[in-house]
Amino acid sequence: MEIKVEHGKIKDIDADILVIGTFEDDKKFTGSVDQIDIALDREISTLLEMGDINGELDEITVIYTFGKIKAKRIVVVGLGMKDAFDLEGVRVAAANAIKKSRNLKAETIAISLFSEIESVIPISFNAQATIEGAMLALYKYRVFSDEEQNDTIKRLIIVESDKNKIEDIERGISRAEALVNGVYLTRDLVNMPPNIATPNKMAETAEAIAERYGMGLFIGDRDWAKQNEMGAYLSVAKGAGEEPRFVVLEHNIDNIDMDTIVLVGKGITFDSGGISLKPGERMANMKSDMAGAGVVLGVMEVVGKLNIPLRVIGIAPCTENMPDAYATRPADVVRASNGKTIEIINTDAEGRMILADALVYATRYQPDAVIDLATLTGACVVALGQGITAGLFTTSEQLSEKLVISGKNTNERVWPMPLWDVYKQAMKSNIADIKNIGGRYGGVGTSAIFLKQFIDYTWAHLDIAGMALSSEEKAYKPKGATGFGVRLLADLLLNW
Ligand code: BES
Ligand code: ZN
Ligand code: ZN
Repeated sequence: MEIKVEHGKIKDIDADILVIGTFEDDKKFTGSVDQIDIALDREISTLLEMGDINGELDEITVIYTFGKIKAKRIVVVGLGMKDAFDLEGVRVAAANAIKKSRNLKAETIAISLFSEIESVIPISFNAQATIEGAMLALYKYRVFSDEEQNDTIKRLIIVESDKNKIEDIERGISRAEALVNGVYLTRDLVNMPPNIATPNKMAETAEAIAERYGMGLFIGDRDWAKQNEMGAYLSVAKGAGEEPRFVVLEHNIDNIDMDTIVLVGKGITFDSGGISLKPGERMANMKSDMAGAGVVLGVMEVVGKLNIPLRVIGIAPCTENMPDAYATRPADVVRASNGKTIEIINTDAEGRMILADALVYATRYQPDAVIDLATLTGACVVALGQGITAGLFTTSEQLSEKLVISGKNTNERVWPMPLWDVYKQAMKSNIADIKNIGGRYGGVGTSAIFLKQFIDYTWAHLDIAGMALSSEEKAYKPKGATGFGVRLLADLLLNW
């Protein structure tokens, strides 16, 4: 799909569909949008006055122009209440409009930015949100079908009558295209079946990113992990049929003046639970257990595309977690690469094991901050809900604030949770430094405090267990992989 901005009046554009918006509590059109209404002999304002169009968010009305202007149809999207309208409203409205246009088999769509938020939000972000909403809504996982991406839609044109705004809009479009690329990459990896999205596939994906943007690439295999005494990571890989891959991408590695941010993502390409086998009905979703690693690769794609002026390192420890005659047993004790010993009580608490060695590995970069993402615990989903927010654990008030702000900017929300040492009580082992699980309660707190045993820098942990998959379609999130975290972390890096 081609995306561009055109200088002109929207009523003069030759397109299959013109998209305009209206509020619930303010149904006036102004400027170039009003010219459409005039050209249609006030048909649209009549529909508004009669209440046939009420402006609620999610409302879509199609109006036919019968040759009164060049475009064949007008799609009027509801924008909800004026005071509540924000960038998320822009994304949702753009998503609704583009999905309607797709169903109508449109090829060219022209949209006039919903300018009502311009007093508070720069126009480049408005354009960015418009394109994000539209493109993310059109995502489909197509690896096993030949259907063309984006269906019939060939062109999306933002029409702007003020010449001075064109450049800003163009910048917003480029940023959106980069972000969407990253989210698509992540969604594809998470949606892929686990026999395809193997640790090796993760490594190959990283290799492609490294080649595209000239990043440093390192892929560690099982022997390398052994040499590096990564006993925690290896304990999970032990029963795996697929070869483990410890994936590292380095952006701006030689620019030591830049701040160094390390991103670490849990890359369990399938979590059967291991010997502590999961019940059957909840197992298939565990192909998404590499979502953290998928997000790290998605963010690195964005970082490369936008050439973000930071030293950014992406680390993705990848392996499956499988039962096997040689698999790790509950009761085994292993030693992580920082020397700490871990008594494995439950082999299904494997995410923290692979993250332990990856977090130790991050130390070598002398990072200003390390952020890990992991589909770590069902307990986080119980605590915060499915698809509501990620759980945030951090050693730094400042980093917490930054993440919360980026969460608001992107509507990829994070919610601060306590990282108190009292949680460690439940993880005491009689024979090792720590157990890999706590007791019956506080499962999300104990998982975070476990990870804290392996860091010695400013750190944040995001538990995205409830966020990686969506069981239903949302405005710009089709059912399945959400790509949650890519826009969040890209926003954080862009505003660092
Ligand atoms: N990958 C799961 C966590 C998970 C659950 C992710 C639901 C997404 C949706 C993780 O490895 C796991 O199995 N955690 C256990 C930990 C327990 C054994 C302490 C859990 O949450 O039950
Ligand atoms: Zn598990
Ligand atoms: Zn897992």
